[in-house]
Amino acid sequence: MLAAFLLPATAAEASGPLRTHAQARSKFIGAALATSPLSNETAYRNIAATEFNQITAENAMKWDATEPNPGQFNFSGADAIVNFANQNNQQVHGHTLVWHSQTPGWVQSLGASAMRTAMQNHISQVVGRYASNAAVVSWDVVNEVFEDNGNMRTSFWYNTLGQSYIADAFRAARAADPDARLCINDYNVEGINAKSTAMYNLVSSLRQQGVPVDCVGFQGHLAIQFGFPNDLQQNLQRFAALGVQVRITELDVRMQMPRDSTKDATQATYYRNVVNACLAVSACAGVTIWGFTDKYSWVPDTFPGQGAALIYNESYQQKPSYTAVHDALAGGTTTDPTPPTTPGTPSSSNVTSNSATLTWTASTDSGGSGLAGYNVYREQGTTDTQLGQSTTNSITLTGLTPSTQYQVYVRARDGAGNLSGNSALATFTTTAGPGGGGGCTAVGTVQTQWNNGYVVQPVTVTNGGTSAITGWTVTFTLPAGHTLSGSWNAAVTISGQTVTARNAGHNGNLAPSASTSFGYQVSRPNGNTQTVSGYTCA
Ligand code: XIL
Repeated sequence: MLAAFLLPATAAEASGPLRTHAQARSKFIGAALATSPLSNETAYRNIAATEFNQITAENAMKWDATEPNPGQFNFSGADAIVNFANQNNQQVHGHTLVWHSQTPGWVQSLGASAMRTAMQNHISQVVGRYASNAAVVSWDVVNEVFEDNGNMRTSFWYNTLGQSYIADAFRAARAADPDARLCINDYNVEGINAKSTAMYNLVSSLRQQGVPVDCVGFQGHLAIQFGFPNDLQQNLQRFAALGVQVRITELDVRMQMPRDSTKDATQATYYRNVVNACLAVSACAGVTIWGFTDKYSWVPDTFPGQGAALIYNESYQQKPSYTAVHDALAGGTTTDPTPPTTPGTPSSSNVTSNSATLTWTASTDSGGSGLAGYNVYREQGTTDTQLGQSTTNSITLTGLTPSTQYQVYVRARDGAGNLSGNSALATFTTTAGPGGGGGCTAVGTVQTQWNNGYVVQPVTVTNGGTSAITGWTVTFTLPAGHTLSGSWNAAVTISGQTVTARNAGHNGNLAPSASTSFGYQVSRPNGNTQTVSGYTCA
C-alpha cells in the first residue's frame, strides 16, 4: 500500500543536513553545545557544524561561568562557542543573563541596591562584549521567572528586588546591544495552562509599558510518558499575536529507560510535531534542541531512570527522532512504500469472561514514516473485525463475549498508513460469566475533558448474562500521573493506578440485558491527553 506523508521529494534533498532544510523554510535548527566535547571530539564538532545553523551555549554563558567573582569576568567558554559559530556561519542565542540557578553565592547575598547594580553591570558586560559580533543575535534576558501555578517564582531576585528586576534586566540588555533580540524563557509553557497564561499576561503588560521584550522562548523539555501538548501551535500563535517572536529553545523528549523501538517511534512523533508547530507559525524563528547526542544530555542526571532524549545515540548515530526532524523540515510530500515488519505471534494472558491481554514482539519500520502502532483483529473467515488498536506491543481487549473462542492476529501500521502482514494467530476462550450464560460488560464515555482533567460519564454496566445479577465490580487502570478526583453512583477503592468500582446500594440488581451506570472524574498532568482506555466487569 502506498500512502502520502511528509518526506523530501528527491534523494538529494533527503541526504541534506538539517540546516539546509531549515534555511529553505526561513527557520533555524539549533543545538545547545557543551564546551568540553566541542574542543575534544571531532565527531561532536563535525555534527555540530554540519547539521545546525544556530547554537546556544548549554552552560558557558551562565553567570557562574562568566562572572564567578564580583567584577571578574571569564569569557573563555563563551568565546569558544561564539568563535565556533562564526567559523560555521551559525547564529548564537545567548543563554542566560538573569536566572535563579547557576548564579554565584556572592550575587545571591547582596542587598537590594547592590544586587540591582550587579545585575545591570553583568548584563552590560556580557551583552556588551558580543554586541558587535555578527553571530550573537539574541539573548535570554530572564529565565524561569514563574512557578508552575503561574505565580512569580520566589527566587532571590524576586525576594530582594521585587518584580521590577525583570523590566530592569530588559532595559539594561537593550542599552548594551540595541540590535539584539531580547527573550524571556521558561519551561512547562508549551501548552495553554496557568503558567503560560501568566507568561502571556506578563509579556503583554511589559510591552504595553514599553519594556523591550522581543521574544518568548518555550523550552520544550518533553517526556513521552506525559503526553504531547497538542495545543502547542495554538499557544505559539497567541503569543505571536502580541507581536513577539517565538521559538522553541531547549527541545528534548525523554523516556523511561530502557529505550526501545516503540518509545523511539513515539519520541520521533513528538519531535516532528514540535517542528511542524514552529513551521506553521510564521513568528516562530526556529527550534533549538538541548544537545544533540545522548552521550551528552542533562536528562539522565536530572530525571533518574530517564534518558535517550535526543536525536543521535551515544555513538553519534541518527535516531528515528533525527529522521522526524529532518523530514518535517524537508517538508515535500512523497510516499513511504515500505510496510513495517510483521509482529510476533501474540500471547494471551489475564483471560476473563469479557477481557484478555495480548502481548507480541514489536515490529520495526524502515520506510521513513516510522512505526505508528498496531491493529488487533478477530479472525472470522472473510469478515474479520478489528478488536482494538494499540501504540505499544500489548493491548487489553475488553467487551468480549463470555464462553467464546477467539482467534486473533495483529498487524503493525506505520506513519504513512502502511499495514504489515498478519501475525500468526493466537487462540483463547473467555470464561463463563456470572449466571453461567454471560457476564457484565462496562463501556465508558468521556463526557468532557480539559487541559488537566476529564469526566467519564456514563460508564454503562450491562448484564450480558441470562440470569439476574445482584452486584457488579468494574475495574480500570488510570494512566500514569492520573488521579481520581471524584465518583458517583459506585463505591470506589483505589490501589496504585487500579480503580475498583462496585455497585452502590441502589444499582446492583440487574436483570438479563439490563443496564445501569456510574461516573467519575480524573485529574491529569497539564497537557497530557490520555484518558482511561478499557474496563473489565465481573
Ligand atoms: C542545564 C544544563 O543542561 C546542565 O548541564 C546544567 O547542569 C544545568 O542546566 N533550563 C535551562 C537550561 O534554561 O539552562 C538548563 O540547562 C536546563 C533547564
